[in-house]
Order: sequence, then structure tokens, then C-alpha cells
Amino acid sequence: MKQHQVAMLGTGFIADFYATSLHAQRSRDHVRIVYGRSAERGKAFGERWGVPDSTTDMAAAINHPDVDVVVVALPNHLHLDAIKQVAAAGKAVLCTKPLGRNAAEAREILDAVETAGVFGGYLEDLCYTPKTLKAVRAVRSGAIGEVTWVRSRETHPGPHSAWFWDGRLTGGGAIVDLGCHCIEIIRNYVGKGVRPVEVMCHADTLVHPIADEDNAVALIRFESGAIGQFEVSWTFRGGMDLRDEIAGTAGTIWTNHFLRTGFEMFTAGTAGGYVAEKAESEKGWLFPVGDEVVELGYVDMFTDMFRAIESGTAPQETFYDGYVVNAVMDACFRSAKSSRWEPVELFEWRGGVAPRIGSGVEPEKYDGKVVIKREILPDGRHKLILKDPASGDFEDRVVAA
Ligand SMILES: NC(=O)c1ccc[n+]([C@@H]2O[C@H](COP(=O)([O-])OP(=O)(O)OC[C@H]3O[C@@H](n4cnc5c(N)ncnc54)[C@H](O)[C@@H]3O)[C@@H](O)[C@H]2O)c1
Repeated sequence: MKQHQVAMLGTGFIADFYATSLHAQRSRDHVRIVYGRSAERGKAFGERWGVPDSTTDMAAAINHPDVDVVVVALPNHLHLDAIKQVAAAGKAVLCTKPLGRNAAEAREILDAVETAGVFGGYLEDLCYTPKTLKAVRAVRSGAIGEVTWVRSRETHPGPHSAWFWDGRLTGGGAIVDLGCHCIEIIRNYVGKGVRPVEVMCHADTLVHPIADEDNAVALIRFESGAIGQFEVSWTFRGGMDLRDEIAGTAGTIWTNHFLRTGFEMFTAGTAGGYVAEKAESEKGWLFPVGDEVVELGYVDMFTDMFRAIESGTAPQETFYDGYVVNAVMDACFRSAKSSRWEPVELFEWRGGVAPRIGSGVEPEKYDGKVVIKREILPDGRHKLILKDPASGDFEDRVVAA
């Protein structure tokens, strides 16, 4: 296994999370140089994380001779230019979410790495949480049958830096900031090979005095008939709510990543301090998160990225995935405007053709009739709802187990 030397572009919130993960638990991979606009913040970042060099020259960080992987941890409007520079340098590039401000920008990013033939990894940490990885494995192994509906929710009281609130720099509000996570979580459960076909979205600005949406809900219809549902908000009070629900023909999965992780604490407030990302209180009942970088997926995400770089294979989350996410969000904005289902427009679909849910499944028969539903009664017998295929009539029938 190689020891990777990373150039970190950015010194803010996510760069800190990434450095915590990269330098965690005696990891062999390290940040070699950090780029920041401000020399002071670059130096402070270097001191925080034991990074040998810092620079205010992005090209110098990217082209540093020891560096083989560049991590883009900059505001959304800077992703394209940074990635083009890394592609030109012929190095592997990992980019935070969202890939672009819109699908056109994401496609340019995708083209840049594919034309240069360099590795591109989409840093969508929430698809790598230990719970999500295990749940997706369970779904892929057939534990819940065919996936019919996936609900993904991310809400908090709003982002932590000025640039997030400026739609010109971000590409949108809560949809672009939080919906990107939900969409990719949904795709992982439905199956990356299943095409997202169309979107119905309602978005509004309910609380914050900004031009972009601070609340939105959307439905994504997949080719199999599966439904994705996401809910995002920048006005939720009480911390950060991160939950997923997956419904299948043979089972259900619920995951809660933040406010109820099984760690609940009460404090009268004598020793306040950091509790968890976006926590709004440091006293009363609190819901801390044991090891945020692990539980939010950052550690497994970098492990997958470096493994993929070394083995010359694709990571779980690729730049093409980032592009699809941007295309779904573009459709959300069109739908929020038109109040209609809007198609997800992709320049190319790299997945497969998905059969309709239930196709090829022979329904259970009883006495020549189709069993619509079977329920166990208190006395142990079974109650069947039957449909006569010839007449179309329905009937109740109680039978021995
Ligand atoms: N879970 C996640 O994956 C996650 C979480 C938060 C943020 N993000 C993403 O990370 C990126 C950065 O967000 P953040 O939360 O770290 O923001 P931040 O405001 O905390 O930090 C942004 C960094 O970029 C620098 N910067 C800002 N404007 C710049 C400019 N014009 N030129 C050069 N540098 C500039 C800042 O100085 C700072 O170092 C965004 O794309 C955001 O969507 C991802």
C-alpha cells in the first residue's frame, strides 16, 4: 500500500473534517501542503494538522512534486477551475460535494478528468457511513426484496459561511447544499444502474431573507418504478437531522445518523463546548455523536478512494455520480418553477435498463385465486385477501396456517 501525499485546497470547515480523517488513527496518508487564500489561515491549518507547507498559490499546491492526490475543499464556484488545473497536472483529484453548481459545470469537470485520464473521486461521505455501507450491502444481497421507496432527509438551521447563502456562488440553496447528499444516498439504495427518469419538486423560501430555497421536498421517479423522496431544510431547529428510510417488497431499513445515534446526554451546562456539527445547544438534553468523522463516513470514503487509485478501479462514488446528482438537482429547480414532473436530462446514461418492480414475480395462488395479502390472526389461522382473476372480485378467506 502506497503512502499518499495530499494537497488540500481550502482551509475551512470541510478541509478540517478531511484532515481529521486523513490524519486519524495512525493513517499513513498525509496532507503535504495546504492552499488557502489567506497566508495566516493556511499557516494556522498547517499548525493544526502538522502539514509541512502552506501556500496562497493554488498552482503551487497542485504541482508540488511530492503530491499525488489533490483534494478540492473549496466553495462550489471554485471546483471547476481547481479540477481543470489538477487534470492538467495529471494528478488524481478528489472533490467535495456538490461536484458543480449545475449539470453543465459538472459535465465540464467530468470531461476534464476523463480527457486527461486522471482519477476523479466524488467525496460524498454520507454514502460511506458505516450504517449506510452495511444497509446497502443488505439491500444488494436481497434482504429487503426489491426497493420500492427511499426517503432521505437532511435538515439543519442553515450553513456556517457567508458564501453558502449566495446562489451565484453555490448554484442554489438547501437543494444544492443538502439535496445532493440525499439524492446520492437514494441512488445507492435504488441501485446506481437504475436510471432516475423524472422529478417533482416543491421548493420555497420560508424563513431566511434570501433569494434561494431554504426548504424543499422532491420525488424522484426511477425507471424501475422506485420512488426517491428527499426533504431538505435550512430552517430546522434542534441540530442536524440526518435520516434515511428504505422500503422494499420484503423488508424495511431505517437509519438515523445524527440526533438519535444511541448516545443521549443531559448536562446542566457547567462544561459546555462542541457537541456535534450544527448542534444548537450545549446544555439540557444533548445528542452527541461518538466519532463524527467515522460515523459520517469520511474515513471509509478516503479508504475507498485510495484503494481505487492504487488498484486502478473506480471508487464507489465517481465524478459521473456527481454529474448525475447535479442533473437531478437541475430537474428539481425546473420542476419547482413549472410545478410539473420534469425529466432528468443526462448527456449519457452509463447504467443499465431496469425492469419494472415485480416483473418476473409470479403472484401466490390459493384455490385458483390470486393472494393479494396474507395476515396472521390471533388464533394462529391466516386471513387471505383473494382476487378471482376471471371476475375481478375480491373476497376474505380464513384458512389454517
Ligand atoms: N459533508 C460534506 O461533504 C460537506 C460539508 C460541508 C461542506 N462541504 C463542501 O465543501 C466545500 C467548502 O465548504 P466549507 O464548509 O469548507 O466552507 P468554508 O467556508 O468553511 O471554507 C471554505 C474555504 O474556501 C476558501 N475560500 C472561500 N472563497 C474563496 C475564494 N474565492 N478563493 C479561494 N478560496 C476561497 C475559504 O477561505 C475556506 O478556506 C463546498 O463545496 C461545500 O459544499 C461538504
